[in-house]
Amino acid sequence: MSRPTYSIPGSTAPPASAPASAAPEADASAVANARTVNEVLAQSQVEAVMDELDHDLVGLKPVKQRIRDIAALLVIDKLRLNLGLSSQTPSLHMCFTGNPGTGKTTVALRMAEILHRLGYVRKGHLVAVTRDDLVGQYIGHTAPKTKEVLKKAMGGVLFIDEAYYLYRPENERDYGQEAIEILLQVMENQREDLVVILAGYKERMDTFFKSNPGMSSRIAHHLDFPDYTPPELLQIAEKMLQQQNYRFGPGAREAFDEYLALRISQPHFANARSVRNALDRARLRQASRLFAERDRVLTETDLTTLTPEDIRASRVFAGGR
Ligand SMILES: Nc1ncnc2c1ncn2[C@@H]1O[C@H](COP(=O)(O)OP(=O)(O)OP(=O)(O)O)[C@@H](O)[C@H]1O
Ligand SMILES: [Mg+2]
Repeated sequence: MSRPTYSIPGSTAPPASAPASAAPEADASAVANARTVNEVLAQSQVEAVMDELDHDLVGLKPVKQRIRDIAALLVIDKLRLNLGLSSQTPSLHMCFTGNPGTGKTTVALRMAEILHRLGYVRKGHLVAVTRDDLVGQYIGHTAPKTKEVLKKAMGGVLFIDEAYYLYRPENERDYGQEAIEILLQVMENQREDLVVILAGYKERMDTFFKSNPGMSSRIAHHLDFPDYTPPELLQIAEKMLQQQNYRFGPGAREAFDEYLALRISQPHFANARSVRNALDRARLRQASRLFAERDRVLTETDLTTLTPEDIRASRVFAGGR
């Protein structure tokens, strides 16, 4: 049986050197004339994104290094392209593995920006989906659903979270297979206009690739996101608070450190995501505490400070979550 060939509209758009497609700060046509690494870096302003990534994200040393390596590859590829030495777009599909809350989505957003600045994708947006966005419930529903998502993602990055759920071998007639086949074709034929990033737990992704060698062979870069260490989690907490104009008052940092030590060993711990959730709850407690003091003038310090009590009231200290 011959298979239909899928082509998603949007990919026939002009190459990234067209003015409308350039990053606002980057001059894509100048990139096309660049002969040195510094010219490509200066004109694409890609280094600013990498510096931001280094600065904004705590830890993730191996991931940051891999991103620099990939960026180096792309910059050199640009120079090769400019001298007519390469013609094919390199395969840029990636796989981000790691536990929940290790920064996969956050890094994927930055990756999309880097690819955009270097002219590898026209728009640089990220469309994040899971199985339910791609696979229908009934016969004939999957192809239109998957194609609709692909259409939205064209010119940017399609981020498929827990991608292995697309493949359910226990169910012989699972529609996920149909979505995989469409993805495979588009990943191959329209890779100059779409980068796919698969994300999820490492072991499950490995199993998925074993059963789907076609998918595995199309992934050029595998990035593994390690769990954060307790000091990194604490640093992430301080960064998050700072961004929201909060801070730990005397003793609160220590309380949060103790909180983390307990929380890490409890079920469903999700790295930076758990930190964010814990801080959200601490802010709620701070608000309730301040709300009770109806007549007191609340100073800037009052309004920005989390106290040890705001942290210690968590159920985690009582053996719960
Ligand atoms: N290294 C880091 N430094 C600072 N903040 C971080 C870091 N990693 C993650 N975060 C923050 O933690 C939250 C969760 O991160 P993100 O959504 O990127 O993780 P994820 O790996 O995609 O998680 P999930 O598997 O749950 O989707 C976000 O609010 C993000 O800003
Ligand atoms: Mg995520």
